[in-house]
Parts: sequence; C-alpha cells; structure tokens
Amino acid sequence: MTHLDWGLTGKTVIVTGATGAIGRAVAEGFAEAGCKVAVVDLDQSACDTAALSLGIQHRGYGADLRQIAELPGLIQRIEADLGLATVLVNIAGIIRRTNDLFSVTEDDWDAQHDINLKALFFLTQAFARRLADTGTPGSVINYSSQGALSGGLSGSVVYNATKGAITTMTRGMARSWAPLGIRVNSLAPGLVDTPMLKVPGQTEAEREAMIQSVPMQRLGLPGDHVGATVFLASDMARYMTGAMVNVSGGLLMY
Ligand SMILES: NC(=O)c1ccc[n+]([C@@H]2O[C@H](COP(=O)([O-])OP(=O)(O)OC[C@H]3O[C@@H](n4cnc5c(N)ncnc54)[C@H](O)[C@@H]3O)[C@@H](O)[C@H]2O)c1
Repeated sequence: MTHLDWGLTGKTVIVTGATGAIGRAVAEGFAEAGCKVAVVDLDQSACDTAALSLGIQHRGYGADLRQIAELPGLIQRIEADLGLATVLVNIAGIIRRTNDLFSVTEDDWDAQHDINLKALFFLTQAFARRLADTGTPGSVINYSSQGALSGGLSGSVVYNATKGAITTMTRGMARSWAPLGIRVNSLAPGLVDTPMLKVPGQTEAEREAMIQSVPMQRLGLPGDHVGATVFLASDMARYMTGAMVNVSGGLLMY
C-alpha cells in the first residue's frame, strides 16, 4: 500500500438518508470514488431515481429503518445485489423542533430516538455481524451533530440528546469492534443550510446572527461533508476509530 491509497474502488457502500440533502451529496462522493452505492431512504422511487443518477452500478432501497426486524434482510438484499458492504454511512435522521423544553411530548421523544438512535444501532449491528461472520474489515461513519457537545437551542434538546448518544455509542462500538478490524467514527456537522435547519418563526436578523456565529461566516453546504466522510471510510483513515470529526466551519473547536 502507498501512503495515499484510498482503497475504495469497487467497495460496496451503504448510505442511509441518501435522498436527503447531505446524504445525496455523500452518495455522489462515494460514486465518484469508484464505489457501488446502496442508496437507502424511505421512498423507493426517490431511491431508484437517485441511484440511477449516480450510474447503473448503484441501487436504491426504499426502507423505513425503524422496522428493526427487517434490517438484517435489508443488509442481505444489498449483499445479494452489490456484494458484501464494507462501509456503512448512517445519515438518516429527523429533528422535531419544539418551542421550548416544556412542550416536548413523549411522541417527540420516541420519534427522534427511534430513527436517530435505535435504527442506527440495529442497522449497524446487522452490518457488522456480516463483517464479523465473514472476517472482513470495514468502516462505519455515524452522523452526529455539533449539538451533541453544545446542547443546542431549547427547541432541539431531545434531538441533540440523540446526537450525543450517537457519539458515545460510536466510541463503544469502536472499542468493541476494533479487534474485528471494524472502524467506527462519528462526524459532526455544524449549521448546514438544509430544510432541517429551518427554525420556525426565525427572523432574517436572527438568521444573520446565526450565520455570523460561524467563524467561517457561512452556513455549511451538503457537499462540505463529502470529503471528510469519504476520508473516514477510506484506508487513508486506517488508524482512526472512535473519533468525532468536526465539520462545522469552526462553530465549535475541539
Ligand atoms: N442540516 C443540519 O444543519 C445538520 C446539522 C447537524 C447534523 N445534521 C445531521 O445530518 C444528517 C442529514 O441531515 P440533512 O440536513 O441532510 O437532513 P434531511 O432531512 O435532508 O435528510 C435526512 C434523510 O433521512 C431520511 N429518513 C428519515 N427517517 C427515515 C427512516 N425512518 N428510514 C429511512 N430514512 C429516513 C429522510 O427521508 C431524509 O432523506 C442527519 O442525521 C442530521 O441529524 C444535520
């Protein structure tokens, strides 16, 4: 191996949330890197369209990842179509903004935990089990958030709790599976200009103040996350596991 060998050509990569803003860009990045991409998101036809736009070697998989019992079958179907997946990028997630902490309901709590945390854990478990069974090394990248560290605003406390748990769980998975050659890292975006960032009732002045809070003085764009994600999946990051990679324009520095 040379120092600058990405080692990604021909690899099968699963990207969840892959028809969303960041997921779409990340799926494109892996396709550009020569990987076969399993485009996973809720809507089958949106997944098919996105996969086809990447090229004929990619496939779309419509799946509600909250259906935990179906996750091993999803991993099996991807393997049958595209070969054993050795990279999993967990991007699917939701936010339910509430006015304040007093208006959070049990349903808000469950909805965010079910997809952001529970589905992520069990999909990763099913993915890693195949790697363990076949003695194959691999890499997982879990999308966290800067809110995992900052706590975020009062309308996003539960969401940020799921993101904090993702980073903590990433470290536990990294420790548990390092002996199997499975690296697990988390990536923390800052303020990204996608529909998820929309704060109901936010004035133009408040939005501008939010932008000015970023040292690089702009919001993140979906494509800003591609390089770091592909890097973490690659052999270039072969000695990295359990890291939380900061892609926030300097919003938080750690
Ligand atoms: N946008 C931001 O400012 C920001 C900041 C920090 C972290 N993040 C994280 O980055 C990731 C992507 O964010 P985005 O802005 O691209 O959001 P997005 O809403 O555009 O994408 C999320 C995707 O997840 C999919 N999804 C939701 N529930 C699902 C389910 N049950 N099964 C399968 N797929 C499901 C959605 O359909 C959607 O396509 C998320 O994990 C988010 O928490 C975003």
